[in-house]
Amino acid sequence: MTRAKIAGIGYYVPEKVVTNQDLEKVMDTTDEWIQERTGITQRRYGNKYEETTATMGARAAEKAIERAGITKEDVDFIIFATLSPDYYFPGCGVLMQRELGITKTEIGALDIRNQCSGFIYGLSVADQFVRTGMYKNVLLVGAETHSYGLDFSTRGRNVTVIFGDGAGAVVLQPTESDQEGILTTNMHSDGTYAEKLAYINPGCHGGYHFEHNLNEEVDFGYPDVEYGGLFLTQHMMDHAQTFPNMEGQFVFKMAVQKFPEAIHEALQTAGLEKEDIDMFIPHQANLRISQFVQRQLGLKDEQVWNNIQRYGNTTAASIPIALSEAVEEGAVKEGDLVCLAAFGSGFTWGAALLRW
Ligand code: COA
Repeated sequence: MTRAKIAGIGYYVPEKVVTNQDLEKVMDTTDEWIQERTGITQRRYGNKYEETTATMGARAAEKAIERAGITKEDVDFIIFATLSPDYYFPGCGVLMQRELGITKTEIGALDIRNQCSGFIYGLSVADQFVRTGMYKNVLLVGAETHSYGLDFSTRGRNVTVIFGDGAGAVVLQPTESDQEGILTTNMHSDGTYAEKLAYINPGCHGGYHFEHNLNEEVDFGYPDVEYGGLFLTQHMMDHAQTFPNMEGQFVFKMAVQKFPEAIHEALQTAGLEKEDIDMFIPHQANLRISQFVQRQLGLKDEQVWNNIQRYGNTTAASIPIALSEAVEEGAVKEGDLVCLAAFGSGFTWGAALLRW
């Protein structure tokens, strides 16, 4: 039976380190508050004019491609997951294709918008394409440049302190061996709480969800004209409606419920037990969430890869960065059962099990 395996993996984080103390200088926050609530001590931020979500994705992709022992021209499908794309459209998939210098047009480039679950969703899509024999070298990238769009005033502190920039990439190839590869993936979604963790404006919602779904009156300052003017208004900018918002405690409660559910489902599908897991690589949402899930699974500290302390939450990039680091540092060895899981905006969540 053909399975997909990760044949090459790499990551890239920008050089600029921003510590909690740096953030103390621009907003009312403290290193103590941030560390206690999230475990984060520092994060990386991209350099404007030099780094974007697509270019960082390309840097990570180059490493993954090289380690897979292929060339850029061998890539036959691109999947790019991000919530902080360079442009509203076109997506980062084609921008990264250009950045990589891939001129071949026989390949497709698919953009995935599943926020923190983006990498798991991408892995699941790639897995299906490889299993069916459709593609032989799928390049899957998760990348984010949060720092360009966050609110650095005290108003935005609950969100801003959490997020960081970076990229991770994998190349997926077919394998006939039953000793390696992706064993199972699952994906879940529930739109009920879409706005609990969301970046709403600018957007083409026209106020609909606030009028019809939310029992909430929000003034977006729409102009009194027949056509247009709804995507981005001066009012939105003046009233700080153009930043991500998050109901932290609600998100936390959902996350600690959905992470374990997705993992148990994956284990059950694969006919395995939680004791079989050698390494757990959670989406780096918050150290406290990862520790909670670790306890639920009964895993030792050395069986969980946490790097949120150094990079913050890099959303779609966090799993491939963490997996890449764990592999580079020898914490994931051949034959290990690796469990990946994510939860985030949407809400969307999911898990994957793979034999390294
Ligand atoms: N620095 C200092 N104080 C801050 C702060 C910051 N960066 N952010 C918020 N606060 C303040 C709040 O204003 C509030 O003050 P008040 O009591 O005077 O009103 C107080 O801290 C508590 O705020 P609250 O939002 O209830 O804090 P919390 O204990 O829930 O922690 C999070 C906030 C965001 C760390 C926490 O809810 C969390 O981690 N949630 C999950 C988020 C997550 O994982 N998101 C990604 C999902 S993929």
